[in-house]
Amino acid sequence: MTTLPAPLRRIMADGLFTDLKAMVIDTTGMAFYADKDEELARILHERLAETGVADCAAYLDMLTDGSTGAAEMDALVAELTIGETYFFRHKEQFDALREIVFNDVIERNRGVRRLRIWSAGCATGPEPYSLAIMLTRDFGMRIAGWDISIVGTDINSKFLARAREGRYDDWAFRSVPDDIRRDCFDKNGKHWIIKSEFRRFVTFQHHNLIKNKFPSILDDLTNFDVIICRNVIIYFSKETIQGLIPSFRESLTEGGWLVMGHAEPNAELFRDFRAINTAGAVLYQKSEAREARPTIGAPAPAAQGKAQAAVPPIPFDAPLSFLPKKNGRGREAPPRPAAPVVPANPPAVAGQGGGSGAERVRELADGGSWEEALRACDDLLVGNALDARTHFYRSLILEQIGDAKESEKAVRRAIYLDRRLVLPHYHLGVFLWRRDDAQAAARSFRNALTLLDGVSEDHVVSDGDEITAGQVREAIETYLKLIGAA
Ligand SMILES: C[S@@+](CC[C@H](N)C(=O)[O-])C[C@H]1O[C@@H](n2cnc3c(N)ncnc32)[C@H](O)[C@@H]1O
Repeated sequence: MTTLPAPLRRIMADGLFTDLKAMVIDTTGMAFYADKDEELARILHERLAETGVADCAAYLDMLTDGSTGAAEMDALVAELTIGETYFFRHKEQFDALREIVFNDVIERNRGVRRLRIWSAGCATGPEPYSLAIMLTRDFGMRIAGWDISIVGTDINSKFLARAREGRYDDWAFRSVPDDIRRDCFDKNGKHWIIKSEFRRFVTFQHHNLIKNKFPSILDDLTNFDVIICRNVIIYFSKETIQGLIPSFRESLTEGGWLVMGHAEPNAELFRDFRAINTAGAVLYQKSEAREARPTIGAPAPAAQGKAQAAVPPIPFDAPLSFLPKKNGRGREAPPRPAAPVVPANPPAVAGQGGGSGAERVRELADGGSWEEALRACDDLLVGNALDARTHFYRSLILEQIGDAKESEKAVRRAIYLDRRLVLPHYHLGVFLWRRDDAQAAARSFRNALTLLDGVSEDHVVSDGDEITAGQVREAIETYLKLIGAA
């Protein structure tokens, strides 16, 4: 057993050591230090030596002094915090961000052409820069000209200074494919410096999750589409975490996503979110519905009773947006056309008109003017109440507006009026699946598949954008697998 050096023993025996410990935990949230006396004593010993202060009492005075306190607390925090980080840390989470989160928010924000992301507890910056690299490389075409902001915040000013520098050694790339390092960084001696095109969205600012309230308009920490806070709250107490989660939720836009580290999900604490479990990642979506979904790879709910669940949420208005690109240029999908998708003309059926009225509806929907688009649909129905296509448009628009009940009625009406349209069956399937009515969802998906029987992969099933029979089949197969009905 090693004996502690005398100066450390002296600090730990100091009557005010406990007060200092309480102050550290209160300021940083790092309850981690509650049972780490030796580690804390070591850090305090270094600070005492550095500042020339004699004991805990004098150091406490220094920390509470109006002129020296803030700077010394900053120096102490720089020693207390643990900044372990690297690029694309925990690949499964980045896969989930790419396939689910970014596809969803980019699709939903195409009207406003804006994306706001917060990396809370970003350390020296690899996390926000990884997000910028992924957005640029995998979604570049879809977000060209958008107002993108990725803000990295941390309590440790030294980490932030290094993050702004954007200079990293090999170790920071330990789980990064060589091509990313080569394409996104410039070599400088033993270091790699992030290229300007991958840092242009990224800013850094000091922020203490415990002491600086959020959401905050003043700090511009509000209205985020995505908040990522990984490997930060693991050092905090349960009570502290309980206090932070509602603040994260309030800092998100409706439908926004909170991504925590893979080791920290605690379903109970996140019950106000919709939880999506994917392989190696749990995502939390701010949603009024606050429902839990079934888990990918888990037995179908029917076989598992009240099984937990998860799936790629496919935006109702963009049913295929999650599909990986297969255009020979990597995974990036072609830019998705704006909602709503037009019902399919199955091969056996001629186009059903729609004309300029339908185009107007599309235009309004594309611009995010949902109420107007709905009125335009209603106007169209006055002239032709039996037009299945218009009812389907209406269903998609109602979904956007948040009227799920009317939306479902409208999609059913579209199917009733013309059973040969593929996409209404598909959308009804998504609808029912979301409601956990797996059997009925599988039926709807199969109806759509039957209509596609014998149709070539490339056949375009939607006349307003380029959704092909192959894509619809692929999407349906994914759902059927999730349901356990493939
Ligand atoms: C282990 S790093 C995680 C870095 C990055 N998120 C990742 O997963 O790769 C934890 C970071 O949380 C920061 N941190 C700790 N307490 C904090 C607080 N109260 N407010 C803001 N950041 C804090 C630390 O300074 C450190 O940089």
